[in-house]
Amino acid sequence: MKILVTGGTGYIGSHTVVELLNENFEVVIADNLSNSNAEVVDKIEEITAKKVHFEKTDLSCPTATAELFQKHGGFDGVIHFAAFKAVGESVKEPLKYYHNNIFSLINLMNEMEKYKTQFLVFSSSCTVYGQPEELPVTENAAIQKALSPYGNTKQIAEEIITDYCLSNPNFNAILLRYFNPIGAHPSAKIGELPIGVPQNLIPYITQTAIGKREKLSVFGNDYSTPDGTCIRDYIHVVDLAQAHLAAMRRIAEQKNEENIETFNIGTGNGFSVLEIINSFEKVSNQKLPYEFAPRREGDIEKVWANTTLANEKLKWKAKLSLDEMLLSAWNWEKNINKNNE
Ligand code: UD1
Repeated sequence: MKILVTGGTGYIGSHTVVELLNENFEVVIADNLSNSNAEVVDKIEEITAKKVHFEKTDLSCPTATAELFQKHGGFDGVIHFAAFKAVGESVKEPLKYYHNNIFSLINLMNEMEKYKTQFLVFSSSCTVYGQPEELPVTENAAIQKALSPYGNTKQIAEEIITDYCLSNPNFNAILLRYFNPIGAHPSAKIGELPIGVPQNLIPYITQTAIGKREKLSVFGNDYSTPDGTCIRDYIHVVDLAQAHLAAMRRIAEQKNEENIETFNIGTGNGFSVLEIINSFEKVSNQKLPYEFAPRREGDIEKVWANTTLANEKLKWKAKLSLDEMLLSAWNWEKNINKNNE
């Protein structure tokens, strides 16, 4: 089976490509390298000892997308990661986000229609739930008004794919709503590579521990949670990558009950920011400098997944523990630092 992975040199994309190659899929990566670099392709090949095709392509351009499909004679399936993802930046530059994230999806789906591509796996986010009324949150929970243009592009993309699936019964899509992906490949050859000051918790922690940042600011300690800090469902990126293979298998084996299905992809466990710090200190065997700071605007107090649907229907379950997630993130940080010395 020949799979197109858009955004395949990015954080989640690269880990998914590794899992696909390990299972002997033929993989073509399309990425414009706007938030990653081509060396990731070499690292993927080192890890898997397999070849991957790489195309530097901007999918927000219809001609480039058409050329990609033409060159490869279409694909059996597409896993679509390519998107801008910085929440704060999307508030400042909404058009950039709508242009890139929405046009790419439409261009891709136009070509998929032309080439009769069998399926699409789309990376959505738990951000669509906002602050859910009931926890753990199920896929049936109400979608809340997005708090940022980034979040809105995920909601709009879900709607576009849903409408298209209604119009075309031969097309199959699975929407995966990720919770908080963290950690890195056990080889420490690929991982998250934030440009500039990290906005997400784990890269900020590892960069502080390695000495690149002075101290972590914990955003808010007056939330209504047991220790006052926010709670999230953190999931190891390798577990998350494997969920994409499970989704593809479901469609390939024609086990999907509808031609569009949605799954929460998390562990089902919520951890607070202080619990993350404790676990990190344990696995790295060092104290992390941190201070409490005001709440960050737009943060949700607590969210974690009900993963029953994914566990039962995708026959997939997250396996790696919080300590394993943080240890792999720490090994990755140490490795990047070693290579830059
Ligand atoms: C954020 C996005 C989410 C996106 C995800 C991608 C927001 C509101 N949400 O999720 O839409 O899909 O990233 O990975 O930005 N924290 C600190 N100090 C820090 C950084 C974070 O205390 O320096 C806390 C946050 O307040 C939060 C938790 O750590 O409670 C996790 O934050 P983060 O890693 O940024 O992820 P989310 O905000 O959950």
